[in-house]
Amino acid sequence: MSIQHTGIAGPVLAIESSCDETACAILAPDGTCLAQRLISQDGHADFGGVVPEIAARAHLTLLPGLVSQTLKDAAMAPEDIGFIAASTGPGLIGGLIVGTGFAKGLALALNKPFVAVNHVEAHALTARLPGLVPGGAPFPYLLLLVSGGHCQCIAVEGVGQYRKLGGTIDDAAGEAFDKVAKMLGLSWPGGPALEKLARDGNPDAIALPRPLAGRAGCDFSFSGLKTAVSQKLAPYGQTALPYRFAADLAASFQQAVADVVANRIQQAFDMMPEATLLVCAGGVAANTVLRARLEDVAASRGLRFAAPPLKLCTDNAVMVGWAALETCQEAARRGLPPPDDSTTRPRPRWPLEEMTQRFETETQAE
Ligand code: KG4
Ligand code: ZN
Repeated sequence: MSIQHTGIAGPVLAIESSCDETACAILAPDGTCLAQRLISQDGHADFGGVVPEIAARAHLTLLPGLVSQTLKDAAMAPEDIGFIAASTGPGLIGGLIVGTGFAKGLALALNKPFVAVNHVEAHALTARLPGLVPGGAPFPYLLLLVSGGHCQCIAVEGVGQYRKLGGTIDDAAGEAFDKVAKMLGLSWPGGPALEKLARDGNPDAIALPRPLAGRAGCDFSFSGLKTAVSQKLAPYGQTALPYRFAADLAASFQQAVADVVANRIQQAFDMMPEATLLVCAGGVAANTVLRARLEDVAASRGLRFAAPPLKLCTDNAVMVGWAALETCQEAARRGLPPPDDSTTRPRPRWPLEEMTQRFETETQAE
């Protein structure tokens, strides 16, 4: 059954389920958040990382209640919703199937359009939420996305117009923090715990490499750094680490990551001279040492730096709703109907560069 385009007649109800956050948000057409709920799943910590099967089952259990509660918070009936959106990729396929299936089912039952949202595009556009970043985030800007699953520099040139300038060739930045934290005996997720320990350490105490720093392009690599940390730990074997040493190692690792990222961002700016703003998003954007370095890099070039508040930097449904609204607005700007993605399937991989096709295809189909 195909759903008729109804335009952006009312608010969007958005669902996020691509990793271990189950989230729902309702946004007015101007981007005002009318209600949002988010559950960070537990049950993964014992395994030292997100277990896809556990995540998918938890989304299935949590979503119906979460969506009802979000509607209730917004004092809305399902019929008051204009259209439904969900992250349909990239991410863990089980969770994507649950969230997309739920959203499509709701859209079908309510005879409303369904808009498929690229999760990374949602991160990329978050800074444009009205009132979020002082001075706004007009195109084009440089985005550094650093989380447990992503580590990319993206030239954000317009809605649906993204150029990946570089990305990790091995681990994501958050993954590196988590793995090193685990080596230091810290709990998962390791980033915040490692940052806390690093406050007691000397960042210059232990020499560590700066992988790819100074190289052309703006790709990242963290596996060599991780290996170097494990070599520093090797002499201790199974014996407990002296606190001072652990703190110094944490601080030195954090400094090495900040140095590498700062160098890569310098390169990315060279690759995107038209950028006037650097936006940082993803869980690792919470790291105060990294943030300070990025601010310095931007300031040294006379450019602005912005990071959305942490709860919007990490996975959430507000960004999904906003990306769907921006997509509909862009379609309208091009004289196209709002997208109807009722036949779109979840995609564990969905490169951002493919987003341009969305409008090209629809233009050709006209
Ligand atoms: O964006 P996010 O919440 O989830 C996804 O990966 O999509 O990012 C989580 C990642 C974890 O790897 C966590 O260790 C890292 O962000 N993280 C941090 C900090 N807070 C969270 N890494 C370094 N310093 C922090 N303060
Ligand atoms: Zn994410």
